[in-house]
Amino acid sequence: MYFIGIDLGTSSTKLLLVDDRGIIVNTITKEYPLRFPHPGWSEQDPEDWWNACVIGIPELLNGFDASEVVGIAAGGQMHGLVALDRNDKVIRPAILWNDGRTQAEVDYLNEEIGKKKISDLTANIAFAGFTAPKLLWMRKHEPENFAAIAKIMLPKDFLNYRLTGVHCCDYSDAGGMLLLDVKRRCWSDKMLELCGISKNQMPALFESYEKVGCLKPDAAKLLGLPETVIVAAGAGDNAAAAVGTGTVGNGGCNISLGTSGTVFISSTSFAVDSNNALHAFPHADGGWHLMGCMLSAASCNKWLCEDILGTNDYGAEQAPISDQRLGNNHVFFLPYLMGERSPINDVNARATFTGITMDTTRADLVQAVLEGVAFAIRDSFEIAKKLGISIPASNICGGGSKSPLWRKILSNVLGIPLNMVKTEQGPGYGAAMLAMVACGVYESVNKAVVSLVEISSTTEPDPELTARYEAQYQKYCRIYPALKPVFPDLL
Ligand code: XUL
Repeated sequence: MYFIGIDLGTSSTKLLLVDDRGIIVNTITKEYPLRFPHPGWSEQDPEDWWNACVIGIPELLNGFDASEVVGIAAGGQMHGLVALDRNDKVIRPAILWNDGRTQAEVDYLNEEIGKKKISDLTANIAFAGFTAPKLLWMRKHEPENFAAIAKIMLPKDFLNYRLTGVHCCDYSDAGGMLLLDVKRRCWSDKMLELCGISKNQMPALFESYEKVGCLKPDAAKLLGLPETVIVAAGAGDNAAAAVGTGTVGNGGCNISLGTSGTVFISSTSFAVDSNNALHAFPHADGGWHLMGCMLSAASCNKWLCEDILGTNDYGAEQAPISDQRLGNNHVFFLPYLMGERSPINDVNARATFTGITMDTTRADLVQAVLEGVAFAIRDSFEIAKKLGISIPASNICGGGSKSPLWRKILSNVLGIPLNMVKTEQGPGYGAAMLAMVACGVYESVNKAVVSLVEISSTTEPDPELTARYEAQYQKYCRIYPALKPVFPDLL
């Protein structure tokens, strides 16, 4: 038996073929463009996501017996607004999670309706990337498109719709729409009303590990799969990644260094951060989680290396950064290339290098970027600590986690051990696990974790380096407040 795990990411879709012992037997990645039609806006064509599957899945199956595939599920970039008309055609490009166009709508929800009311309804406040403010933006700026909406959904649900013909969404992803009553796991009538949307424009809700349906005949044919393949609801990418690293049940933490950077704390009970600096969403294991999300994490390193330095040999760029240089850098980087969500919630924030002198080297800049992202992750970590949550260790995943240097920096900036799991593949592996549960291979997500997830290495903090990084973090913390008043004037 085989299972397909889809990681619908922002720069690419990664497909995993996993056998019934949980071994990854093949992977395929298909990239697609990310469009920035205005500074701070971020869009993608949902057809690109579907094409990535249509081209990638037959390639993934090459050399394997496709008739042995029994289940499929996706973990997808969250919050993106996919709007379909009454013929199920995409109305406009999807507005993504890292899009910052909705400040006016965020202010309306948080200030006029009020943070308390929004939080009472949804367990969260409005952030620019969330789906509800995007609906309000569309209603105001594109009234014809808004009037044409028959269904709204999230990115991976567009794939699920194309696979099964069912308009569906799972709870972990639905939480990020700001339209879900997270505690009761149902759509909030009041929030839908505020956004001018009716319940029949919303997809049906499922637990992440539940079966949504089987493949439609045309989809099965296109992908070269049997029509009997079961499609599980899947999850938001962070919840799926957390499942993949075994971060389920009570008190686990997973840090993801992907395009975004997240600190994900799982729980069996519902809880809200009283300041709403951390998001409170359902988890893919049937429980809940708190999460801090920074908008640009591994993407900062990608931007510096590929777009500015003109190389994709990240290892070579990091090679000169010796142990003695760690915690001693005089250059600091604010990683706000797309504004920032957690915890500062500032769409106007911008990335900066500070402290450059004539002796600053290329390696200092690379190091500053790795450190700046680690410091920004620590900002969310500090919020969790202030809520009384103890995080003695964390799992880590995502493209950035593959760098031993970055793991060392992060472990010392946070002062905790970081665990990598054997099957580290971001959300794709967690998605495959959800498919296994939907197909009855495991009784629950927790049982799948016990059987399939194993720690492969741990990066331990070093007390001396942790102390050096503590001093550096305190300096870093003074840079954003000093520049904050300047950022709006730079737009
Ligand atoms: C989480 C978030 C990001 C995206 C990226 O709230 O916005 O992590 O899901 O894929």
